[in-house]
Amino acid sequence: MGIVDEDVAKVKAATDFVQIASEHIALRKSGRRWQGLCPFHAEKTPSFSINAEEGLYYCFGCQASGDIIKFVREVDHLDFVEAVERLAARAGIQLRYDDAAEGKDRTRRTRLIEAMEKAVDWYHDRLLSSADAAAARGYLRSRGYDGDVVRRFKIGWAPDDWDALCKALHLPEDVLKDTGLGFMNRRGRQQDSFRARIMFPIFDPSGKPVAFGGRILPGADGPKYKNSPETPIYSKSRTLYALNWAKDDVVRAGEVVVCEGYTDVIGFFGADVPRAVATCGTALAEEHFRTLKNFARRIVLAYDADAAGQAAAERFYEWERRYEVDVAVAALPPGQDPGDVARTDPPALQKAVAEAKPFLAFRVERVLGKAALGAPEGRARAAEAAMAVVAEHPNELVRDQYLMQVADRCRIDPDRLREFLDPTRKRARPAPSGPSTPRPRRSDTPEIEALRLAIHRPEAVADVLVELLFEDDLHRSAFVALASSSTLAEAIERADAAAAELLHRLAVEDTDAEADDVVALLVSAAAQRVLRQLEADARAAPELSPELSPITGWLKLTIEQTREPLTRVEASKGLVAWLVENSQGVA
Ligand code: UTP
Ligand code: MN
Repeated sequence: MGIVDEDVAKVKAATDFVQIASEHIALRKSGRRWQGLCPFHAEKTPSFSINAEEGLYYCFGCQASGDIIKFVREVDHLDFVEAVERLAARAGIQLRYDDAAEGKDRTRRTRLIEAMEKAVDWYHDRLLSSADAAAARGYLRSRGYDGDVVRRFKIGWAPDDWDALCKALHLPEDVLKDTGLGFMNRRGRQQDSFRARIMFPIFDPSGKPVAFGGRILPGADGPKYKNSPETPIYSKSRTLYALNWAKDDVVRAGEVVVCEGYTDVIGFFGADVPRAVATCGTALAEEHFRTLKNFARRIVLAYDADAAGQAAAERFYEWERRYEVDVAVAALPPGQDPGDVARTDPPALQKAVAEAKPFLAFRVERVLGKAALGAPEGRARAAEAAMAVVAEHPNELVRDQYLMQVADRCRIDPDRLREFLDPTRKRARPAPSGPSTPRPRRSDTPEIEALRLAIHRPEAVADVLVELLFEDDLHRSAFVALASSSTLAEAIERADAAAAELLHRLAVEDTDAEADDVVALLVSAAAQRVLRQLEADARAAPELSPELSPITGWLKLTIEQTREPLTRVEASKGLVAWLVENSQGVA
């Protein structure tokens, strides 16, 4: 049973966030916000902030964020319904229940998890004791997995039979399908999804089983792994295999090792590096970063060297910045994955993690390592290839450091190499934040300032802020959510997860910025991007377009006027109007 929405809203409105939070932490008023030590992570200086008017919290240390209900859920380890019930009791509100989504989801999830728990135990018992699992046991032993390993990871065996699990568990049809454990076949009978496979159960961080990866025995037909489908309890792009077992050591070490496969993780645990996790048949995605940043600030990729070299570099840099984590790469012998190395040379795995290099350093090294640096032609080619890699990094200071290294190694004047870092392709970024420099807590870029204003003093910027002024994807989507909602709460609901987190954060930050200043900066940055693009297009065009020079001339002049107090407001408005008008043509 769920609680009717209207009553949830009533409870929120009747609850004093500061009073509830004060029962857990000491709060101090600072401006219009309340601050204190974060209850969700260990810290010595307060980074936890509450905006009481909006009923929102945000922690600058661990990025925990939410409303009063989430706060109560997290501090007291309650589910949604329990948290609302507790607050309602305090406020003297009588709740009404219906069959709304919350209640149903809660019981549905519980039913699915219970079925998964039964399946984990059943497969596991089969592996340990049944006669038809002899070949599987033999194979696992041959890989060095003894009984302890099998029990630690709850490894199982799905027999070579089409309905052994279904017959044993008697699951209702909807549970069978929604867990991905089985399906109804054409004859209307229940059938198992996994057959003749070694089963690696996948748990959520709290240790509840949500999926399986099933490995075929060597020599059999079919794909090497078959994985559970996406289900109401399982999302591949969010889930990390073994995080439930690894999290303690991850938090202790401040570092998590990310591998590609289940057996790689098991190899790391065997080599005494019990802080390894794996993606489950997908590439490392943004949602994974969001999860991992709650546990550690350093992510060490332990992929086979080619896979690491091909990882999506630009997205990684973006996520490093967005989630304030550092990505490093552990160098493994070519053609070997951690599972292989664990078998032959476990200390080498520890060493690879200890000596992991920043992601960009690893990539530059790979290019230079392959090059023929003995000859001038080889050095020139290598420099060019290395600079293409360096150019992907968003931070100018970081790029420059690597540029100097490339210049040294290839014996080329650094100024010549700077030409490879084409400024027209560069994206505007917030203050310097490289893998090794500490990141500023507040990046006061005009885009962020503008968002703060849009939240706290919407009337001051309402008529000039438009979507196309935001270059950063995250900032833009936060703005769009705000602009299309009438309240902050509604915007947070509408925004995707990353943008919602940003809005939470900005909601607890004050701003005393001058709206006209911020707008002028934002507008002139946007206009300059367009101007650079127009000039680059003109250089690339076979002949000079006669229309172009009055336009670029006007843009330059008007951009200049955004810097003068007397002309700033008019110039900003003029540029916004022009940008909106011409956005199709030049974007
Ligand atoms: P690998 O082929 O590297 O397998 O795939 P592995 O993990 O090293 O396994 P072993 O050591 O050979 O037994 C890495 C990961 O890619 C996914 C699985 O998640 C696997 O762990 N994968 C691979 C699939 O989803 N399907 C496949 O057919 C193969
Ligand atoms: Mn592998």
